[in-house]
Amino acid sequence: MTASRTQVGIIGGGPSGLLLSQLLDLAGVDNVVLERRSRDYVLARVRAGVIEQGVVKILRAAGVGARLDREGLLHHGVEIAAGEARYHIDFAAQGASLTVYGQTELTKDLVEAREARGGTLVYEAGDVAIEGVDGKQPRLHYRKDGVSHVLGCDFVAGCDGFHGVSRKSIPANVLKMHERVYPFGWLGVLADVPPVLPELIYASHERGFALCSMRSATRSRCYVQCALDDDAEQWSDARFWDELRARLPAEVARQVRTAPAIEKSIAPLRSFVAEPLRHGQLLLAGDAAHIVPPTGAKGLNLAVRDVDQLAAALIAHYRETSDALLDEYSATALRRIWKAERFSAWLTSVLHVFPGRSSFDRRMQLAELDQLASSAAARAAFVESYTGAALLS
Ligand code: FAD
Ligand code: PHB
Repeated sequence: MTASRTQVGIIGGGPSGLLLSQLLDLAGVDNVVLERRSRDYVLARVRAGVIEQGVVKILRAAGVGARLDREGLLHHGVEIAAGEARYHIDFAAQGASLTVYGQTELTKDLVEAREARGGTLVYEAGDVAIEGVDGKQPRLHYRKDGVSHVLGCDFVAGCDGFHGVSRKSIPANVLKMHERVYPFGWLGVLADVPPVLPELIYASHERGFALCSMRSATRSRCYVQCALDDDAEQWSDARFWDELRARLPAEVARQVRTAPAIEKSIAPLRSFVAEPLRHGQLLLAGDAAHIVPPTGAKGLNLAVRDVDQLAAALIAHYRETSDALLDEYSATALRRIWKAERFSAWLTSVLHVFPGRSSFDRRMQLAELDQLASSAAARAAFVESYTGAALLS
């Protein structure tokens, strides 16, 4: 058995854990990241693609914005379709924009930045267990290559995603959980074909929701709503592209080029918030604390904003010996998180086919979209939430 010490023990080496590690290190706060998976696994994961401008600024300040600035695609609008109807929503009127840049690339940038600064990232750290967060000296236990390790720390940052151990180690009588599980998933395909349109298109259709996104001028990321018990293997490439086309307006469907899937996976949809985000010396951030359905493209953005706030609080603790920001962390972050939950749940409800829905429910969805098309105020509210301007605090 080995024993070591750090100031902040970070569980999880996804975007949240890596960014927290980087921000703390830049401010001279010592930290160690414990990641259950291998480095290759973490670097290969395909997930989000849309980054808010406020989040781009945080990433630049963390020293990981250079490639994002070079290769990210700046978007000034988005399209929403319902059957054959198409609505263009322009962000420019509000001076807003978004950057399309894959989470896979961001993770690569973060791992490279941590390695360049000599950060301690422990991959394949098994059986991570948290002890003593009620006191001042918590300890993290883990196994690596058959050896048991103990890491003493001042704080534990739970950045280990929805299925991690951090949230589960908060006593049940302290933790409140709020959840909505949706009765469908998204089947996502990554393929080397040019984007269907220059901007993203979200399509509400009788056959189910569809989304055409992208990673570059030559690579697309597209999704179709699917059954929860579908198996990605049951979806041949041809079936996927046919279904995607069937859900898009005809003139857009004609633009769809096809190629073999580089990656194909199904993600369930869930809305979830755990409260509070702090228990003693344990602090939760990112998917460990909350999940949004991907419809609003908020998951990664929320995670980065949590971490930015948490890093500032921990840095103030060490530099200024002030715990005011740490004391406020949970309440301040939760206000922002609930706003993103509201938007993501609303957009999900407007765009998807829900089992057993009535013709009245469908007319409500179409009226919501018509409201966006015809009301400048409704569009402005949408842009504020979708681009993140309404989620700053
Ligand atoms: P994660 O990325 O989940 O990272 C957590 C890390 O902790 C992982 O590396 C995991 O291996 C590690 N870990 C877990 N348990 C342990 C443990 N016990 N010990 C040590 N390490 C552990 N968001 C969008 O905005 N748009 C999208 O299209 C989108 N698509 C998504 C698709 C899927 C399948 C999923 C799961 C999420 C998607 N998201 C999307 C959400 C977005 O990817 C997440 O919000 C983001 O990854 C959150 O980052 P995180 O670091 O908090 O969590
Ligand atoms: C993606 O590019 O993967 C993506 C974009 C927008 C979303 C969800 C996913 O709402």
